[in-house]
Amino acid sequence: MPMPTLLSGRLTVPAVAAPMFLVSGPDLVVETCRAGAVGTFPALNQRTTAGYADWLDEIAGRLGPDTAPFGVNIVVHRSNPRLEADLQVTVDRKVPLVITSLGLNRDLIAAVHSYGGLVFHDVTSLKFATKAAEAGVDGLIAVTYGAGGHAGLISPFAALHEIRRIFSGTLLLGGAMATGAQIAAARLMGADLVYVGTRFMATHESLAVPRQKQMLLEAQAADIVYTPAVSGVPGNFLRASLAAAGRDPDDLTPPENLNFGTTDAKAWKDLWAAGQGVGAIDDLPVAAELVARLASEYRAALAAAPDFLHDLRA
Ligand SMILES: Cc1cc2nc3c(=O)[nH]c(=O)nc-3n(C[C@H](O)[C@H](O)[C@H](O)COP(=O)(O)O)c2cc1C
Repeated sequence: MPMPTLLSGRLTVPAVAAPMFLVSGPDLVVETCRAGAVGTFPALNQRTTAGYADWLDEIAGRLGPDTAPFGVNIVVHRSNPRLEADLQVTVDRKVPLVITSLGLNRDLIAAVHSYGGLVFHDVTSLKFATKAAEAGVDGLIAVTYGAGGHAGLISPFAALHEIRRIFSGTLLLGGAMATGAQIAAARLMGADLVYVGTRFMATHESLAVPRQKQMLLEAQAADIVYTPAVSGVPGNFLRASLAAAGRDPDDLTPPENLNFGTTDAKAWKDLWAAGQGVGAIDDLPVAAELVARLASEYRAALAAAPDFLHDLRA
């Protein structure tokens, strides 16, 4: 299975800390990359293109040549007025990995390829995966059932199998994973890398506010609600955060306009996205400790794998 050359030999665990709106910033990215997983953030986490450029310069300045490379998320949707300007800054700064979501853009792919960067695109269905594969992305991220934020309703087993059939590039799996054993399981199922969001939100460096982190410690999978009410696109959110904001967690009425934080960050400020993996979160470690833990759990799980052959008939 293809691990891109850019990542080969630079990771301690095959994981990408997924971009999270209002949650991922330079400290989380830098500490994650130093520890050996890919750190990422959404360009929109800075309120202006100039601020985004400052973050890129800061991150690049703090990372050395041996750390894992970092990535940014760009929302490719007409509601994002910064798309062109942010892309220009991304290309000027030669950001190693660009993760696109909510839309495909062939010019963007060509621009990132022009300096040797990689484009991973996140998808929730085989239909979108096929389109992105045809457009020439380097990686596809299957965002499957139970993932935090916008998520699909397809089982990870089904999604990985279907997408692998039509795509020979780098394949990532996202959704509800929070341990190294789960990362090992995803690899055995055919994923090259795993995309972990919610677990990284519960770290010291994440920009989530204290109450939000506390909610992650308290919640189980059943406390996650799948609703289009926040952005217009169905996603997973902490039920308690909707209730605390005075919203009916079971009201499925989408907002009048699609809102990915491109037009109104306020909705996302109090209504907190999180995946069904929350039940595995019991602490708020520094990112380096989390990555080290995922790496050792991953190795332990793979080392134990031959045991599963023992009591089988030859
Ligand atoms: C709080 C939060 C904010 C998110 N914001 C974004 C975002 O801005 N752009 C994006 O592409 N995905 C976003 N996501 C989705 C993640 O990148 C990723 O797909 C997801 O977290 C993976 O599932 P997991 O949370 O169960 O690990 C967000 C997820 C969370 C939990």
